[in-house]
Amino acid sequence: MRIPKPFNPRLQGQIIKRFGVYEKVVPVKTTPSRIVPEHIEKPYYVTRREFTVPKMPEIKDVNQIRGMKRSCKLASNILGQVQKYVQPGVTTDDIDKLVHDLTIEAGAYPSPLHYQGFPKSVCTSVNNVAVHGIPDLRPLQDGDIVNVDITVFYKGFHGDCSKTFLIGSVDDRGLELVGVTEECLEIATRLCAPNVPFSEIGSQIYRHAKRCGLTVLPAFLGHGIGQYFHGPPDIYHIINDYPGSMKPGMTFTIEPVLSHGSENTVILEDGWTVVTDDGSRAAQAEHTVLITDNGAEILTK
Ligand code: MF3
Ligand code: CO
Ligand code: CO
Repeated sequence: MRIPKPFNPRLQGQIIKRFGVYEKVVPVKTTPSRIVPEHIEKPYYVTRREFTVPKMPEIKDVNQIRGMKRSCKLASNILGQVQKYVQPGVTTDDIDKLVHDLTIEAGAYPSPLHYQGFPKSVCTSVNNVAVHGIPDLRPLQDGDIVNVDITVFYKGFHGDCSKTFLIGSVDDRGLELVGVTEECLEIATRLCAPNVPFSEIGSQIYRHAKRCGLTVLPAFLGHGIGQYFHGPPDIYHIINDYPGSMKPGMTFTIEPVLSHGSENTVILEDGWTVVTDDGSRAAQAEHTVLITDNGAEILTK
C-alpha cells in the first residue's frame, strides 16, 4: 500500500505523535575534525603527557579557583554566542565551526576534540539524541530542539556547560521538556552549599521531574572538573546513595538529561551518538558550580 505524503513539509520526516511533533533524527555525513593551531595549549589526553586525575573530590586553592572561573566564563560566553547564531537552516557542523573558531580565537582548546576519540569540537544533540551527538550536515529545522554542550580547556582548566535551544516554533511538549529540564538544573544549583550530601542533587532533580511527568535518564552523571575533564565526585541525577558531601573549593558539574518516555538509551554505530530507545525527545542543561563558604557560585552563568 502506498502511503500518501503529507502536504505539510514538517510532517514529512518520521514523527512520533505519542511524544509530540518532531523529526526523529539519524546521524548524517559530516566534515573532518577541525585543526587546532600549534600555539594552543592542549590537554593531557591530546599531548599524551602523564596526568593523574585525583581519586577523591578535590578542594581547589585560590589559583585553581581563578583558573576555573576563567575557563567557565569562556565556555558560557561561547554558549551565549551560539544562542544568537542558531536558527533553521544552520547545520550542527556550522555550530561546530563557530565553537571551534571562537575557542581558538580566545586562546583555548575545545575539550571534546579527540577526547577518547570524539571527532568534533562540541556535542550537538537534536530531538531524540540524548547526549554526545556528533555535529553533522543536517540543517536544523523549525520545531527542533538542540542541546549544545561546550567544554573549553583554557590556561590549564576545563569549563563545561550546555543548554537546549529551541529552533523556530517548538510544540508544547517540547517546550515543557526543555523548561522542566532547566528547572531541574536550577533547583539543583540552589541547594548546593557546604556539607550538603552530593546525593541530594539527584533526589531533588528526580522529584521535580517526576512531579512533572518526565523521566530522568539515569545513565548520565555530572562530574568533578578542573585540570581534568572528568573526575570525582559523580553527580547522580536520580535517587542514589553516593557518599560524601560538598566542601568549599570543590567544583563539579550538574547536567540532568530528561525525556518524555523511556529511561533507556542506545549508542549508535559511530560509538558516540546516544539516542533514546523509544525515540522520545531528550533535553539537557549543564552548569559548572563552585562550592563557597556560604553556598555556591554558578561559574558558567
Ligand atoms: N561535555 C560532556 C560532559 O558534560 C562530555 C562530552 S565528552 C565528548 O561531560 F567526548 F563527547 F566530548
Ligand atoms: Co558538558
Ligand atoms: Co559535563
